Amino acid sequence: MNRAANESESGNTVDHTVVNEVLRLFREHGDSEYGGEAVTQLEHALQAATRAEKSGADSSLIAAALLHDVGHLLHNLPDDAPDQGVDDRHEELGGRWLDHRFGAAVTEPVRLHVAAKRYLCAVEPGYFSELSQPSVISLELQGGPMSDEEVRMFEANPHYREAVSLRRWDDEAKVVGEQTPPLEDFCPHLAAAVS
Ligand SMILES: [Fe+2]
Ligand SMILES: [Fe+2]
Repeated sequence: MNRAANESESGNTVDHTVVNEVLRLFREHGDSEYGGEAVTQLEHALQAATRAEKSGADSSLIAAALLHDVGHLLHNLPDDAPDQGVDDRHEELGGRWLDHRFGAAVTEPVRLHVAAKRYLCAVEPGYFSELSQPSVISLELQGGPMSDEEVRMFEANPHYREAVSLRRWDDEAKVVGEQTPPLEDFCPHLAAAVS
């Protein structure tokens, strides 16, 4: 891979190739609708990442929040695929793309963010009733609330708490017209998460 690297202020070598790939993906595909919601993929990603940053999350989890739906930017299925009964498996697609670029602190919360919705539906009274309609539709395709056994297995995953935090930011990140910092402001977190 042709990598662009230079020295950061701290003296560490920073690889900008991945950061540039992320910027290009959002520039080329970020305008698409976010799965039946009234915000775009880029707006949704920025709102989730902004919530992660305000919560004091580290750079890896902020990067995960920004990139949790990167799988939606990597396929050519229609935005309303769930309405047509199609689960795009975007968490797996995104996880595989991230595997080559980031460590487990980024990839695993992303890979688990759909499972975290199924988990919260099982363990938290009232969570389901707060879900948006598109999220309810996709929940059915994704397997519905977890069984007791699935809950136990999920809680055994070392990344499950981060995945649950990410899921809550994800659920909130659908506010029409909300102002956020621009994508470029998150580049330092991406660079820190890569290196
Ligand atoms: Fe998602
Ligand atoms: Fe999302």
